[in-house]
Amino acid sequence: METAIPQRTLLSRLNAVWAPPAVLDFWLSRLNPLWSWDQARARVVERRIEAEGVTTLVLKPNRHFRGFRAGQHVNVGVEIEGVRYTRSYSASDRPNADGRLRITVKAVQGGKVSQHLQAIPVGSVLSLGQAFGELAVPNDAAPCLLLAAGSGITPMLALVNAQAENGFAQPVRLACWARARAELVQAAALRALAASHPNFSVHFMLTGEAARAADEREGRIEPGHLAALLPGDEQAHVLACGPHGFVERARELLGERCLSFQAEAFSPPPRLVDASDQGRVRVTLLRSGRTLDIARNKSLLEALEEQGVTPRHGCRMGICNTCACVKPEGATRHLHDRGIQHEPTQALRLCMHAAQSDLSLEL
Ligand code: FES
Repeated sequence: METAIPQRTLLSRLNAVWAPPAVLDFWLSRLNPLWSWDQARARVVERRIEAEGVTTLVLKPNRHFRGFRAGQHVNVGVEIEGVRYTRSYSASDRPNADGRLRITVKAVQGGKVSQHLQAIPVGSVLSLGQAFGELAVPNDAAPCLLLAAGSGITPMLALVNAQAENGFAQPVRLACWARARAELVQAAALRALAASHPNFSVHFMLTGEAARAADEREGRIEPGHLAALLPGDEQAHVLACGPHGFVERARELLGERCLSFQAEAFSPPPRLVDASDQGRVRVTLLRSGRTLDIARNKSLLEALEEQGVTPRHGCRMGICNTCACVKPEGATRHLHDRGIQHEPTQALRLCMHAAQSDLSLEL
């Protein structure tokens, strides 16, 4: 015989089943910090020091992480003294059968997150974004030149390891610039790889120390370095990663020697700001219903933060897309090429644009 369930009981049961993810996440994370209804998270399962001020974290993601390719980045979120921070890091190894993700973090002077991650306890849980980025070794027989300065070495390590897995089907030459020998990351492993694969070579460029080994040279990127890496009139696919100035210098020096040139700079190009950018405009935040006066000469992200609004963000330099939001009306100005955009857009990167006129945002 069927028994009727009172409507109020039924609704409360349904609510229990269809509780909003934020509520579910709260309770799931109480049971296990790695558990979530729909968010990617990862546990730190190993931490090792790679070089002076450089640490690799081995992360075990939960089932919501959809994987990555060598050369891609992820956004990593961490809470420090009650404040949540997000930063982008490259995977520093190719995908492995263990499903783990390695990121290699260089301590930045005054960098809260990079300093915190140097000593984060094994067992800690971090929030994780899905992988993004297009850096990849072109799949043909032409030589490939990988140029890395400072932390730019991290995606290159992943790309080299992915090529090693294929037995270096095409010639790969890696050149790494660092101030001192003690800052070189995985130098011994790279040298061992070069010794066992004729199609792979590694070159270390030291900007603050004398060269001592056959594979070491001195100085910042200059034509002599590149002539040694790409002799005669040989051409190559070039991938460069480092500060903006380094990447642009590589592009300029290699010019027509490049079959293709892929670049990733981890410092943004200089901003183009002039006297006409002074003043303030009114921005309406459609979700919260707030209206604010913000500066026109700062990125929208900085200008909003100045007013106590904290939009989601990661890299703060236009790479990760985390800060993208809908702009239904108003004009914005690109901070690096001064291009004005009047049209509504679904994905305005707040870190790359300043307000040109009064505008509204879906925040
Ligand atoms: S914060 Fe990464 S694109 Fe704006």
